[in-house]
Amino acid sequence: MSSVGFIGLGLMGKPMATRLLKAGYRLVVYNRSSKPVEELTALGAIPASSPREVAERSEFVITMLPDNPDVRFVIAGSNGVIEGVRRGMVVIDMSTVSPYLAQELHKMLADKGVDFLDAPVSGSTMAAETGTLTIMVGGKYETYERALPIFRSMGDKIFYMGGPGMGAFTKLCNQIAVSLNLLATCEALLLAKKVGLDQQKVIEVISTGAGSSWQLTVLGPRMIKRDFTPGFKVQHLRKDLRIIREIAEQLGLSLLGTNLVAELIKALDQKGHGLDGTQSLITLLEELAGLK
Ligand SMILES: NC(=O)c1ccc[n+]([C@@H]2O[C@H](COP(=O)([O-])OP(=O)(O)OC[C@H]3O[C@@H](n4cnc5c(N)ncnc54)[C@H](OP(=O)(O)O)[C@@H]3O)[C@@H](O)[C@H]2O)c1
Repeated sequence: MSSVGFIGLGLMGKPMATRLLKAGYRLVVYNRSSKPVEELTALGAIPASSPREVAERSEFVITMLPDNPDVRFVIAGSNGVIEGVRRGMVVIDMSTVSPYLAQELHKMLADKGVDFLDAPVSGSTMAAETGTLTIMVGGKYETYERALPIFRSMGDKIFYMGGPGMGAFTKLCNQIAVSLNLLATCEALLLAKKVGLDQQKVIEVISTGAGSSWQLTVLGPRMIKRDFTPGFKVQHLRKDLRIIREIAEQLGLSLLGTNLVAELIKALDQKGHGLDGTQSLITLLEELAGLK
């Protein structure tokens, strides 16, 4: 089996890398902090001391990092992946970042004879653990086909979306739907609380019909239990919404609902909830509504 390198072992990256290890891949790992590297090494992964070394020791390199600057630094910065690649290799970024960055990296790596895929994911940390992520892929079709067995170890809904950047654009469309469903879930629970309904029962009722969503059925109960443990951090949703707004501005596209949620998420982050899960949005809306 191919040798795979994995960089970025956070809430998503660690379980995704673990799936690859369990599928039998020879796995080389690197992360900024050392704890997740030690945990994966204990499971059989090979630790590397830099993104460059990961590339030197792998045929495929996967990155799963927070934001544009992190991906740019890890792939194209000093001691980065690009310094360790060889012709014929494949670099796959699975983070949620700008499609324009994906297109830039695609060109930069193509000059070295290396193929690039943007392949962001949707699904929670639970989906990462169980290998049931949705994966949306942009890049050359032949490269997508080469990477398919690797994707199948991490996801069970894998879609080829088109040329470079098209996977990343699809993920931004997904994040628009995620954000507005998150706001809808919070507002439905606010009204339920205000009039004295049993909020859990309201979720059960809505989930049987046209108003259902993952945000409602999975995050709604956590809002009621006041469980704000992060699956998906507020600071990452803020980043996604920032990228969507930048692109919408460039395209002259008005995204009124998305802009509204972006401002709420920004305020939530500034109030100190950046590392909480996105379900903590309910606390800000309760405050605005005068509900405790
Ligand atoms: N969580 C979700 O439900 C979810 C779902 C779909 C997509 N995503 C997207 O997937 C990406 C990762 O999300 P996450 O939730 O896994 O984030 P996370 O928990 O914040 O993990 C990010 C990881 O990247 C590492 N890192 C950051 N900069 C690095 C660098 N320069 N070199 C090496 N490692 C570096 C961090 O290391 P440290 O330990 O040093 O911080 C951390 O382990 C984001 O783009 C996010 O939007 C998340």
